[in-house]
Order: sequence, then C-alpha cells, then structure tokens
Amino acid sequence: MSRRDGLVVAMDGPAGVGKSTVGGLVAKAMGYRFINTGEMYRALTWKALEEGVDLDDHDAVLALAKRLRWEFKPIDGVALKTFLDGTPVTSQIREERVSVNSSRVAANPGVRKMLSRLQRELGERGAIVMEGRDITTHVFPDADVKIYLDASPEERASRRYRQLKSAGQPADRAEILAAILKRDLNDLKREINPLKQAPDALVIDSTRLSMKAVAGMILRRVRREAKNGRR
Ligand code: DC
Repeated sequence: MSRRDGLVVAMDGPAGVGKSTVGGLVAKAMGYRFINTGEMYRALTWKALEEGVDLDDHDAVLALAKRLRWEFKPIDGVALKTFLDGTPVTSQIREERVSVNSSRVAANPGVRKMLSRLQRELGERGAIVMEGRDITTHVFPDADVKIYLDASPEERASRRYRQLKSAGQPADRAEILAAILKRDLNDLKREINPLKQAPDALVIDSTRLSMKAVAGMILRRVRREAKNGRR
C-alpha cells in the first residue's frame, strides 16, 4: 500500500526484546518517526492508578481514556511521546507499578479499539516505524514491512539484568526472568489481539545478534521495499 510520506514499518515481539532500540535506529536512518505503542497503554495505566480508577473496571477505564486529550509529539526528532492533557508522561510510565499493571489495561477491549484507532491515525501518512504486540496483525495488517522480533526469555532477562547493573541499580536475574515469563504469558494468552506472528512477517531471532545488526537487516528490507514502491 502506498502512503503519502513513506512506508509503514510494523514491528511486534515480546517484552524486552529490543523493539524500541531497533525501531528507533531504523526510523532515524530512514528519516521516519518512531512510536512505541506500549507507552500508550502504560500512560493510561499510570493515569488510572493516579486517579484511583479500578483497572479491572473496563467501562471506568475506557471512560477515563475518552476524557483525556491524547497528543503525540516528537521530543528527540524521531520518537513520538505521549502527552495527556498537555503533559508529557515519560518517566512516570516506567514506574514498577505501571509495568506490573499495564496488562490489565491492555486486556480492555474498548481501550484496545480506541488506541488502535489513534495508532492508525498516526500511521496513515506513512513514514513511520511502529512497534507493539498487535501492530502487524491488527493495527496495520497491510503494513509495507512487517517484522516479528524474537529472543529467548533467558537472553531478554540477561539484557535487562546487565542494563540495571550498569545503571547501578539492584537486580536479581531469577526475578527478572520470572517477570519476563509472566509478561509473555499475559501477551500470548490475551483474549483480544494477543501477540502472534503474522504469516507474512520477517521473523528475526536476535538472541545472538546485536541491536545494530538487527537494525541493519530490517533497513535492507525497508530500503528494498521503498525502491520497489517507486517503480
Ligand atoms: O511494550 P510494553 O511492555 O511497554 O507494553 C506495555 C503493555 O501494553 C504490556 O502489557 C503489553 C501491552 N501492549 C499491547 O497490548 N499492545 C501493544 N500494541 C503494545 C503494548
């Protein structure tokens, strides 16, 4: 499908696999925008926690989502960040209470419908790399390039462990692995739009690859597709 400004590059995969790092590199190289759609589910989770809304009350969470003014603005020229009612929500959404509870909000059918619509609007002109869990299968099933990025749970846990250690933060490898396995289960077993491989996605197992190498593989595919589109 040809869109006005460029291609739609859709990327899915499990938690902690490096989708944001890789997606950001690809977007920067192409002069595209990048969006991590998990941040939208996290932003709503954070706001609901702040307002004391019961996360399992689907109607109340959806009503909150609809009351908010959602905006997405690039803060580093590439990555679009979520603003709620004019305020950027960037550090708050990384709080542990948000990580632990966001799958409850992601299981809300009305919220998924609303956020999918916002995501389609953001991508309708193209020139975007969008990552999440259901982008290749549900949000943009007609994306120009579809990637499913994977890595073993042990490797994802090790990466997170090294990240925390190098930031001087406490880290327990077994705890991290258990959290990753729990998040995988939530994503794969969700009733609506669970994480799955689109049949036509390029599957990349990054267990033994650097993020730069993965970005290079995706860029080759994106450039080839962009060239084909011009013919
Ligand atoms: O990628 P992440 O872990 O920051 O995502 C936060 C939550 O949102 C997590 O529960 C998975 C969910 N999610 C989703 O259901 N669909 C998406 N497109 C992106 C994220």
